[in-house]
Amino acid sequence: MDQLINEVESSDHGFKKALSAGNLITLGIGAIIGTGIFVLTGTAAANHAGPALTLSFLISGIGCVFAGLCYAEFASMLPISGSAYSYSYASLGEFIAWIIGWDLILEYLFASSTVAVGWSGYVVSFLKDLNINLPIEYAASAGAKLINIPNEGWKEITAQLTESLSKSNIDINSLPHTTGIINVPAMFIIAFVTILLVIGIKESARFNTVIVIIKLLVVVLFIACGISYINVDNWTPYIPANTGEFGKFGLSGILTGAGVIFFAYIGFDAVSTAAQEAKNPKKDMPIGILGSLLVCTILYIAVAAVLTGIVNYKELNVPAPIALAIDKIGAALYWLRPLIKIGAIAGLSSVVLVMLMGQPRIFFTMSKDGLLPEIFSRLHKKFRTPHITTILTGIVAAIIAGLLPIKILGELVSIGTLLAFVIVCCSIMVLRKKNPDTHRPFRTPWVPFVPIAGIVICMAQMLALPFDTWLRLIIWMGIGLVIYFAYSRTHSKLNQD
Ligand code: ALA
Repeated sequence: MDQLINEVESSDHGFKKALSAGNLITLGIGAIIGTGIFVLTGTAAANHAGPALTLSFLISGIGCVFAGLCYAEFASMLPISGSAYSYSYASLGEFIAWIIGWDLILEYLFASSTVAVGWSGYVVSFLKDLNINLPIEYAASAGAKLINIPNEGWKEITAQLTESLSKSNIDINSLPHTTGIINVPAMFIIAFVTILLVIGIKESARFNTVIVIIKLLVVVLFIACGISYINVDNWTPYIPANTGEFGKFGLSGILTGAGVIFFAYIGFDAVSTAAQEAKNPKKDMPIGILGSLLVCTILYIAVAAVLTGIVNYKELNVPAPIALAIDKIGAALYWLRPLIKIGAIAGLSSVVLVMLMGQPRIFFTMSKDGLLPEIFSRLHKKFRTPHITTILTGIVAAIIAGLLPIKILGELVSIGTLLAFVIVCCSIMVLRKKNPDTHRPFRTPWVPFVPIAGIVICMAQMLALPFDTWLRLIIWMGIGLVIYFAYSRTHSKLNQD
């Protein structure tokens, strides 16, 4: 641990130290507000929590604040771009660190692909409003079965859609069909952001700041304008009775809802991957992590309250719930409609940016420790960015975004991130025991209560995810273990010292 701190403090790692506390908060907000709030809130209310969606946001937010407090202690003590990987390297050893480093690929790389798919959906719908119709088979995941519903446009066939069509006596086979080939818009946004990230961290942070202002404005406008259109009848019953099935309303519905909208909070921890590019990381890392998380938690709870107040939760099973709420209000707020879509399109691109920024920086640290080849820690001479890994990450993320559907990707990201949070919470307790005297510029309060509560809330949300997602996690980790024993263990710096 002390050796790591010394190395960080004494070495010139080559990164440009350009980010202020303000930049770090905007970086966090840039990564947090995205698909979760613009897409997932509707289905979470309609299928799981009802108006008590606000409680789901509160529970998931509390879990994240507990994990965020642990991240803040680590990030101030060990300002290194490896994030949770480095924290567990210092406290639990190389093997667990490898596991978490490998797991973080699920969070960062896969999240950028997931959000790129969400971005593609909003772009297609925005262009359609302008009467520009993209060929849908080139804007959907490979193999997705799509049908064209009159007045609604192309939709992917899901069990739920089939059920609701059969209820309304529409024969699904009578509607025009097509099959997805590749999601070109999703690949485009990843390529664009990758180029930006190669050019420089300062340029990327500037682009991010502009976008964060736009998306914050849109979210605040929605809350401020929507609040006077709330019909309190929509909030009763606040917790709809459970249907007899776990997770369908009632208390279990609130919990499952929390698991679904957890995705909306992912991203505050990405701030920690910019630690080596912060001007004053010891002081500013906790401000960046906790500040961005706090702003988003408050906004999310307010959005959930306004949304379920304007639209009855039963009608919210749609991919663009905020746009639906504006439609409900009627002509008075029509001007807000295009702004919401533009805000979402801009907002999602900054999530892609911060996630794609995080991944190469974690590879950088893993490579410095010898667990990945040396090429993973090369920096560009002029731009001083990890250009090779940024491009490599971009290519892989673009392929995944081009081929896979959002649901599978989103659940994988959630389970991977929750696992990372659990390990970080464990690491805090271990390090307090192993290195009680190390200087901690920020101390997590109420240890061990906070980390233990963080572990319990994150584990509960993991358990709410489907078995298939667990299986994919296990397979992914299995591949990681093969690479560790075949390459990383023998090349590790620890073996050479
Ligand atoms: N929290 C980010 C989003 O919702 C990942 O898009």
